[in-house]
Amino acid sequence: MIRSHSPAHCDAAGDERYRRIVDTLHEHGWSEQDNFLPPDLTLALAQECTALAAAGSLTLAQVSRGAARALQPSVRGDHILWLEPGQSTACDRYLAIMEALRVVLNRELYLGLDEYESHFAFYPPGASYQQHRDRFRDDDSRVVSVVVYLNHDWLPEQGGALRLHPQGMCTRDIYPVGGRMALFLSADMLHEVLPAIRDRLSLTGWFRRRA
Ligand code: OGA
Ligand code: MN
Repeated sequence: MIRSHSPAHCDAAGDERYRRIVDTLHEHGWSEQDNFLPPDLTLALAQECTALAAAGSLTLAQVSRGAARALQPSVRGDHILWLEPGQSTACDRYLAIMEALRVVLNRELYLGLDEYESHFAFYPPGASYQQHRDRFRDDDSRVVSVVVYLNHDWLPEQGGALRLHPQGMCTRDIYPVGGRMALFLSADMLHEVLPAIRDRLSLTGWFRRRA
């Protein structure tokens, strides 16, 4: 079967899929979806991320903001590069998909999301990101966090789960399987990235409200 992955606003089946994601987010505060990205796009984004890492274009991510901003690899060990529109065909396709999801989130949940920011993230083996929330104390613009994974043939025994800690519920481990998407409410969801025994590639992003 050939599956269509065109943006939701011009594809009824895609729209229905996005609605399921949005309904689950509304009900539980998080949602996950396998095969969110088409395989050829996952592959192109993975190749781009790998090439950027090999070229030394990714930089060790910082924790906190303002004066507290610092490199603390034991707290956060990923290397990142922020996406710019026009950076590549693959990135533009990804951004178009996220734009379609933004429209559905606003239409269904009235979230008033204005924009999307996203970066490649590369965790070398052993790197992790300790428990945190994605919203900064001095900035409430991030509303929904989204992670899309780019790893071919990921096995649970390789580690690297995104571990969600939903309030009053069991923890939930989401493995970074290529094409899979996880999203959650940035302000509420405590979460962490567990170390893996292989490189772990993703695109992490946030739907934001303008101040
Ligand atoms: C983050 C984050 C989760 C993941 O970058 O803030 O929590 O699974 N990422 O990569
Ligand atoms: Mn996070």
